[in-house]
Amino acid sequence: MDLSSLNSIAQSMVAPNKGILAADESTPTIGKRFATIDTESNEKSRQTYRNMLFTSANASDYISGVILFDETIRQSTDDGIPFAEYLTSLGIVPGIKVDKGAKKLPMCAGELVTEGLDGLRERLAEYHELGARFAKWRAVLSIADDKPSKTCIEVNAHALARYSALCQEAKIVPIVEPEVLMDGDHSINKCYDVTAEVLNKVFTSLNEQKVSLNGIILKPNMVISGADAKDRADIVTVAGATVKCLTEHVPEEVPGIAFLSGGQTSEEATAHLNAMNEHGPHPWQLSFSYGRALQAQPLKAWSGEASNINAGQKAFIKRSRLNSLARTGNYNPQMEETG
Ligand code: 13P
Repeated sequence: MDLSSLNSIAQSMVAPNKGILAADESTPTIGKRFATIDTESNEKSRQTYRNMLFTSANASDYISGVILFDETIRQSTDDGIPFAEYLTSLGIVPGIKVDKGAKKLPMCAGELVTEGLDGLRERLAEYHELGARFAKWRAVLSIADDKPSKTCIEVNAHALARYSALCQEAKIVPIVEPEVLMDGDHSINKCYDVTAEVLNKVFTSLNEQKVSLNGIILKPNMVISGADAKDRADIVTVAGATVKCLTEHVPEEVPGIAFLSGGQTSEEATAHLNAMNEHGPHPWQLSFSYGRALQAQPLKAWSGEASNINAGQKAFIKRSRLNSLARTGNYNPQMEETG
């Protein structure tokens, strides 16, 4: 694995047939996930769970990178190997979430701006020491009649570009994640228009701040109906609209696009990615960087029980393999039953 330049790191993050595991839930968020399986969240249970995922046999056949949280990059496998070192030894690139979360945007009721720029240069230097070769920053935009506001789009794009420039200075590839949320009853057309406007602003800001586009990975939402919409667009429509929107708004220099799952079911997220890759090749790799869509099944299979570690690892590898097949359009929903 050549990790000597930003572009070669980015290429390995979107290597063929592989994708990224987003395992960077903050402590409150992983607490919510553990609550669904009646499991207490503490430092040890979080290490146990992440150890289960990362040490699954053959994970590196399907997983190119893992996004870690600050606590996790300082933790080790059950055998005492720091997680970042362990992943690197498998050829999996370790990454780190560096934003400090989405906070209320003043003067824009109900909207959020992602914070975390103060001291970021120093934090990136430390994370590089700890083995991270890419980072993640998530901006959040909601759709409603009067949202997102121009202000919200502008300030989040500016922060994403500030973060990206600092990452590249530190020889860390920025994952640029402007997430247009699926919450609401809006149509797929509305999602298309908002996603297009957000991507335009993000790339304008990245260019203004001299970010090298061949050394980033874009992590967008898919263009999809709101979760509560009456007639939700089907898989083929979502895939077509997403590819069209990206083709029109993402420069070809960007090596890869790794989608978030954003509340889609595990099966939907895989089917959508598959439908997009059935009609490739595209100018950029079209891959996955799923959190919930990769973890929901292994989390449930594990349910906090030591005796279920094998079952959790099997569920994780199965989900990873199905998404790997979706990278080339070779997934079929019947595989959900047959494995
Ligand atoms: P989801 O796939 O659960 O949306 O998480 C991806 C992620 O990293 C969000 O920032």
